[in-house]
Amino acid sequence: MSKVVTIDHPLIQHKLTLIRDKDTGSKDFRDLVKEVSLLMGYEITRDLPLQEIEIETPVGPTKAKVISGKKLGIIPILRAGLGMVDGFLQLIPAAKVGHVGLYRDPETLEPVEYYCKLPSDVEERDLIVLDPMLATGGSANAAIQFLKNRGATNIKLVCLIAAPEGIEAIQKKHQDVDIYVAAIDERLNEHAYIVPGLGDAGDRLFGTK
Ligand code: PRP
Ligand code: URA
Repeated sequence: MSKVVTIDHPLIQHKLTLIRDKDTGSKDFRDLVKEVSLLMGYEITRDLPLQEIEIETPVGPTKAKVISGKKLGIIPILRAGLGMVDGFLQLIPAAKVGHVGLYRDPETLEPVEYYCKLPSDVEERDLIVLDPMLATGGSANAAIQFLKNRGATNIKLVCLIAAPEGIEAIQKKHQDVDIYVAAIDERLNEHAYIVPGLGDAGDRLFGTK
């Protein structure tokens, strides 16, 4: 069974409260999502492997550590996942970014694919899937399945807020995918929105309605 990690760093929790607040406008919402993503990225990359290399400082030769292992890929689920990309890229500028376009049909609640563009070597990379909201889990489950169909074997899912229903859905279908969240909320409402959640992440990020 995969692990579910709630990253409860005080800065993340403080900023998440501001993100949830209905009076937070799009600009602040975007800035805060980026900041929380960066802070979550810092925690999530804690286990990246290191190797020693030889360098010369101005004072003399030394051995020093650099990140080794497989290259990373960042996969935002469009649209709302885009809001998390810059925070991750600030930490891992060499990562390649693949986009999976999915929206949730408001009637059926099923994910509908409309775009997919991935790095050509996606199967060789460790992937981090980004989406602020894990509600029913339908969108993230479908995105993860696209990546697996293209050969990806090491995938992490990072969300700001998850509903218990969404976590259960991912764990049922993708036992190998660890899930990192800033909060696990109470439940879904009758429209499959997370309660208390933050509303519609895509609309709040991009000022649409
Ligand atoms: C939202 C959110 C997730 C999905 C979560 O996207 O960003 O992708 O819903 O719901 P689920 O877990 O029940 O699938 P939405 O479909 O609203 O599209 P958008 O990002 O373009 O606004
Ligand atoms: N998508 C959102 O943007 N918010 C929710 O609460 C659920 C799905």
